[in-house]
Order: sequence, then structure tokens, then C-alpha cells
Amino acid sequence: MPVQISPSILSADFANLESELAAIANADWAHVDVMDNHFVPNLTLGLPIVESLLKVTPIPIDCHLMIDDPDRWGPGYAEAGAGSVTFHIEAASDPVRLARDIRAAGARAAFALKPGTPFEPYADLLAEVDMVLVMTVEPGFGGQSFMADQMPKVRQVREAVRRHGGEVWIQVDGGVSARTIEQCADAGADVFVAGSAVYGAASAAAAIDHLRDLVSR
Ligand code: DX5
Ligand code: ZN
Repeated sequence: MPVQISPSILSADFANLESELAAIANADWAHVDVMDNHFVPNLTLGLPIVESLLKVTPIPIDCHLMIDDPDRWGPGYAEAGAGSVTFHIEAASDPVRLARDIRAAGARAAFALKPGTPFEPYADLLAEVDMVLVMTVEPGFGGQSFMADQMPKVRQVREAVRRHGGEVWIQVDGGVSARTIEQCADAGADVFVAGSAVYGAASAAAAIDHLRDLVSR
């Protein structure tokens, strides 16, 4: 699978999201961070804004739900038309059922692991999802430092995916930049979220192309 770049609009100008999405037209996904001020100590946006974004962009939306009770709220994002819905495994009550509900509503399903959460207890879930997100910062804020100590976990997931045999993507999110993206790819990641590295650049589109070039091989 070719590598994919998913810029996080958390670092975009929230007053101008339509033009901020137009600025990343060469991205594979638009990563939308949904935070509820309970699962993480920050509050961003929810379903009504995602519904509005879907109306103004052709870029598929990659929803990263940093919320309590994703079992209740997650399928609604898929029903609204998000292309991918990621829930945190630490917050899900019945991840198998949740992943099935998300897929039944027409989206790709994924689970995310916080830096302190091991992958191994959830390896059997690979049969139920399309992607695993390995967080490379503590979820909650953009612009934090990349945690290179998560690379062994990425390698572990890559090895489990290889054994499993299906096509499960591996996403990294947090501190991904031109300086850190190659080690993520070397460890086995193939979907790269970048917020400040894209929206903090003079040209978001050029930053996306540069990140993609660094890991296309
Ligand atoms: C953090 C979010 C990330 C964030 C990444 O909790 O999940 O998607 O926007 O921002 P950067 O790329 O600046 O670390
Ligand atoms: Zn995110």
C-alpha cells in the first residue's frame, strides 16, 4: 500500500476550516481530532462540525475520537459519512461490537493505543479493524514532542499484522514531522498524521508532498 498522509486540522484555523481543508487538497485524509474534555483534558469539536466539514471537502475524513463512551458516539460519525473512525481502546466497553457497528455504517474502523497502553492484549482485534493507531504523544494537544519510545510498539503491530495476513494499516499520530517520519516508516507505519508540521509550514501542500516523499520507497 502506498504511504498516506493525514494532516490534523487541530493545528488549522478553526474560523476558516473550509479554506484550511482546501489548503490540503493533496492529502490522502483530513484527520479530525474529536476531544470531549473527559477522556483527554481538552475540548475540540463534535458531530455537527464533522457533518459540516463533510459538505465542503472531497477529502475523506479520518475521525480520531478522544472521548469517553465511543461505543455510544462512534457509529454516528460513520453514519454521517466519515471515511474512517478511530476509537481509543482504553475507552471502549465492547470494541468488537463497536468496530462492527462502525464498519456496518460504512466507515473503516480503527482502535488507538495511548503511549502507556500495550498492544498485545488487543492483538485478536486485528480481525475486526482496518487500522491501528499508535499514539506518539499523550493525546490531547498538538505540537508536542515525538515519543520515539513508541517505535517498538509500531514494530510489534507490524509483525502481528504480517502474521494475521490481512491488510490492516498502521497509523502514527503526534510529533510526526520531516525529522521523525522516517523512523515511523522504518518501524512499519504507513499512515502518518501531522498537525503542526503541515499547518505550521509556509505551504501546507508542500509540507504534505515533502513528508510523502520522505517515506515513499
Ligand atoms: C493529539 C492529536 C493529534 C495532533 C497532532 O492528541 O491526536 O492528531 O493534532 O499534532 P502534531 O502533529 O502537532 O503533534
Ligand atoms: Zn489525532
